[in-house]
Amino acid sequence: MTDTIKVTKVAESKISDVDFSKLSFGTVFTDHMFVCEYENGAWKKPEIVPYGPISMDPSAKVFHYGQAVFEGMKAYKDDNGKIFMFRPEENFNRINKSSERLAMPAFEKDYFFDGLNTLLNLESDWIKPGNDNSLYLRPFVIATENGVSASPSSKYKFIIICAPAQAYYSGEVKVLFADQYSRSADGGVGFAKAAGNYAAQFYPTELAKKRGYQQVVWTDANTHEYLEEAGTMNVFFRVGDKLLTAPTSDRILDGITRKSLIELAKSEGIDVEVRPVKVSEIVEAAENGTLKEMFGAGTAAVISPICGFTHKDKEFDLPKLEDAYGARLKQHLTSLQANRAEDPFGWRYEV
Ligand code: COI
Repeated sequence: MTDTIKVTKVAESKISDVDFSKLSFGTVFTDHMFVCEYENGAWKKPEIVPYGPISMDPSAKVFHYGQAVFEGMKAYKDDNGKIFMFRPEENFNRINKSSERLAMPAFEKDYFFDGLNTLLNLESDWIKPGNDNSLYLRPFVIATENGVSASPSSKYKFIIICAPAQAYYSGEVKVLFADQYSRSADGGVGFAKAAGNYAAQFYPTELAKKRGYQQVVWTDANTHEYLEEAGTMNVFFRVGDKLLTAPTSDRILDGITRKSLIELAKSEGIDVEVRPVKVSEIVEAAENGTLKEMFGAGTAAVISPICGFTHKDKEFDLPKLEDAYGARLKQHLTSLQANRAEDPFGWRYEV
């Protein structure tokens, strides 16, 4: 542990109350959290404190203007009890990119890494070994200055909370290709992990859920002709033996799982094409049987197979494949993350 961080431990851990075989994603949190406050133009000395409610004035800007960004990361444990994170530097860079877009201050790199290292050592018992287990880490920044004038806050809290995790989606995932609502627009905040990006998807996603779809795959706001990303994950399409995914842009989140999979797939000899993907070509490939699989990729979702999709009045089910790229890449990625496979890319970070 480092002396840059003041640590106040809980009197008694609540871990014995938790059934690790029945985890519902993001509902159970560990004993401690990391908190760092920003005031007078600087981040103050961070602390790790018992997990619990925080008190804020009702006029705090986050409540009124949604000035808030977050990250999703995971920690893994290998069979010898060593703890690893996956490409944490990418999350650090991305949260600062998101913050910049929302007129929020960049966080300190030392505090981020010292905070995570200290927190993970403290919460080690909450990280279970096995490829399907992880500790989901949720760093987030909120605007805490009081007052409802519509301007950036001068005070913030950077917090990290941790939740033991297994699968994000428990069953099969069916998706709806968006043809009415939009997630993001050119010049907007689609690339950022801004809290409001997620809130804005809830209503159309709820409408889709009522029709039996777990997620919407968003299309470009101008024409609805190109497939972009789903609400909680980037999306990959296998047409023939080729893997397709949309390029990132200021409308699409630069997913860390997405970019890792592109490299991993290429290293396995899979032909990967990163280019705009037309709705019409995927519909056509489904009609002529060349669309072999679709899957979503994200930190929480890992790799989630998509078993079918609907676009306008056309509905398609995808075949179950013996040799699915998604299953193969998931096995490779999760083994690499938890130190059960070679890491030629240098992505693993030992805590
Ligand atoms: C993640 O994959 O970590 C995300 O942030 C998606 C979230 C909506 C669960």
